[in-house]
Amino acid sequence: MTRPTVVPSDAPLGAEIRGVDIAAGIDADTLRIVHDALHRHKVVVLRDQRLTPAMQATFCGRFGRLEPHVLPQYLVPGHADLVRVSNVLDDRGEPIGLIDAGRVWHSDGQFLELPNLYSMLYALEVPRDEHGAPLGATCFASTAHAYASLPESTRRRIDGLLAVNSLAAVYATLQRSNLATRRAPLTDAQKREVEHPLVRTHPSTGEKCLYVSRAATLRIVGWPPSESDALIDELSAWIVRDAFVHTHRWQEGDLLMWDNCGSQHLAIGDYALPQRRLMHRATVGGSRPH
Ligand code: SIN
Repeated sequence: MTRPTVVPSDAPLGAEIRGVDIAAGIDADTLRIVHDALHRHKVVVLRDQRLTPAMQATFCGRFGRLEPHVLPQYLVPGHADLVRVSNVLDDRGEPIGLIDAGRVWHSDGQFLELPNLYSMLYALEVPRDEHGAPLGATCFASTAHAYASLPESTRRRIDGLLAVNSLAAVYATLQRSNLATRRAPLTDAQKREVEHPLVRTHPSTGEKCLYVSRAATLRIVGWPPSESDALIDELSAWIVRDAFVHTHRWQEGDLLMWDNCGSQHLAIGDYALPQRRLMHRATVGGSRPH
C-alpha cells in the first residue's frame, strides 16, 4: 500500500495530504499520518473524497469526541454531529444551514468552556464565478507562529493573562458588519461568558498559541477597558497579518481539517445565490484551555 504524502503550503500553516481515500478505508498508520500532519500544519486538506454524512462522521470521530453544534436547527437531518454550512434556502426561503459562518477571524468554540479542538468541513457544492473559478475561500492564520514571532517584551507582558470570551460578542461583531441578519437570537445559556488564558498551550504538541480574537474576546481580566481593548486589537491583528495567511480554495470533495488551538480562520463571502455553497461540518470536542 502506498503511504500518503504531505505537501506543505508556503505559509506557516497549511498542507495537502495526498494518497488518502477515506471511502476505501483508513488504517491506523494512515490515521496517524493525518493526525500528525494536522498538528504540524494546523490545517490540512484531503481532496477528491466521496463521503456520505455517515462516512464523514465516522472518519472525523476517529480524532476524538464529536460534538453537536450549538445551533441545532442547522444539523444535517439524522446526524446530530454534522452541521450544514450553506447559503442554500429551503422552500420557505429559510437558510438550510449557517449562512454566514466564519465571516470574521475566529477559532471555533472560543466562547465555550471546552472549546472545539478540531473542525472538519466537507465540500458538497462550491460556488464559482462566470469563468468557473471557485469562490468562498477560507483563510487561515497560525496562532502558534503568531506567538513565536512576538517580541520577547510582549510575550513577557501577556504570559499568564486571562481573557473573557463570548458568543454574544461574536454576534455583536457580525451585526455591526451587517452579517448576522438571518440568525436566530441566542439563548441565555449561549450568551454565557467564559475565561480562557490569553496564551494557551496546545494539548498535544505543547506549542504556545495566542488565544484572542477581535470577534470573540470581550476583555482582558483585571485590565482597564482602554488598555484591554488596545491589547486585544494589537494581538488579533498580529495573528492575521496578510504575509502569513494561507488561503484554501475549495473544490467539491475537499475534506478540510483544522486545529482550533493552533489556528484561526475567516470565510470569504464573495458569492451569492444562484451561486450555491453547501458544506457539512463536524467538530471534535476539546479540553479546558491551559
Ligand atoms: C467556519 O467558520 O466554520 C466556516 C468556514 C467556511 O465556511 O469556510
